[in-house]
Amino acid sequence: MRAFEFHVPTKILFGPGAENRTGEAAQAEGVRRALVLYGGGSAVRSGLLGRVQTSLARAGIACFVKGGVRPNPRMDFVEEAVLEYLDKGVDLVLATGGGSVMDTAKAVAVGLATSLEELRQAFRGKKPPAEALAVGAVVTMAASGSETSPTAVLSDGETHEKLICTHPLLVPRFAILNPELTCTTPPLQTACGAADILMHTLERYCADLGGNALTDALAEGLMRTVVEYGPRCLKSPGDYEARSELMWCGSLSHCGLTGLGRDNEFPVHRLGHELAARYDIPHGMSLTIMWPHWARAARDRIAPRLARLGRTVFGVAEPDDAAASLACLGAVTSWFEGLGLPVSFAQAPMGVERDEVLRTFAASCTDRGAHPLGTLCPLEYDSVLAVYQAANGNG
Ligand code: NZQ
Ligand code: ZN
Repeated sequence: MRAFEFHVPTKILFGPGAENRTGEAAQAEGVRRALVLYGGGSAVRSGLLGRVQTSLARAGIACFVKGGVRPNPRMDFVEEAVLEYLDKGVDLVLATGGGSVMDTAKAVAVGLATSLEELRQAFRGKKPPAEALAVGAVVTMAASGSETSPTAVLSDGETHEKLICTHPLLVPRFAILNPELTCTTPPLQTACGAADILMHTLERYCADLGGNALTDALAEGLMRTVVEYGPRCLKSPGDYEARSELMWCGSLSHCGLTGLGRDNEFPVHRLGHELAARYDIPHGMSLTIMWPHWARAARDRIAPRLARLGRTVFGVAEPDDAAASLACLGAVTSWFEGLGLPVSFAQAPMGVERDEVLRTFAASCTDRGAHPLGTLCPLEYDSVLAVYQAANGNG
């Protein structure tokens, strides 16, 4: 087994009604004043926000509430929240929502503990954050895994850049996971969430050629579960069992467990972030558009992994590795399509794009051609451009 480091300090409260224990979880962290963030209103309509506020009040915790976080969340919203709550003595930023609200909460937690300048530096990769307030999450959507990850992803609305910060300070202290809350997730978001959960483990799985047998077994078990229960959630949105399985997969898929002893690289996320930032499409959709075309470009290198994935997760019976890897590529693509998600620009809301725009994406993914994308299968600028062109339909 190769060396690894694993530390996931998030306390998980899982099950029906878990949101009513938010106050208890916050109290255990010594919290006195919480800033509760939410998104476009689903948490208000479902009554969740009210239950969270009641739970905090019962624990003697004062709270401020701010809504309006949008999908592909913006840095300007974070800065506004930091300025608004700077002097309020907040000691917990509590997200009530999906990945966008959780990532916003993480960034606000950095901004409130440091300064706007340090916040900007942290999200531009210039300087790690020196401090952050505690973050908690009441999760309403199975997708990003932000509830256990050390990462936050924001968007710069003007430059169309994704701004990413990864640091242990950003791992939430606790996460409230009530799968019932995810039953109202719209079909498109359910599908995008399932795709994202699969990709968090699949990217890790393809980032190496093996070693750490238990890591492979955990990864394959998780991916089999997503492949089965993602479509079940779509077919029967109120199916508690299916929603629970998908939700727990989401929390475990991006906490590092399914990639222990591996390089952590996410080339398809890198490719997809360009699309989500420019076209404001859901994150999961950006991944299903790019994965098949990246996998074709990387297939020579990752064929043994795809062959194994095909056999262990997608029921591929081909004995020959080359044939099995090809069959796996088709099976993953069909699974995405079965969720109703696009696998090309043409099928996506933005449609076919001009070549000059694809060039800006390829330049961004390779730091203007200075570094290849990925290390196991390094793709130089021209190869990255070819992947975008293939996804666009003109490759
Ligand atoms: O805003 P509201 O009204 O709550 O509606 C949301 C939003 O419109 C809705 N929704 C969520 N839960 C719902 C619900 N609607 C009804 N019932 C519910 N229970 O779903 C829409 C999408 O929400 P969003 O939070 O954007 O989705 P998701 O959880 O997929 O998060 C996506 C964001 O996470 C980032 C992505 O880049 C993207 O910005 N990621 C964060 C990661 C991390 N922090 O580790 C890793 C991921 O790879 C990803 O990059
Ligand atoms: Zn993701």
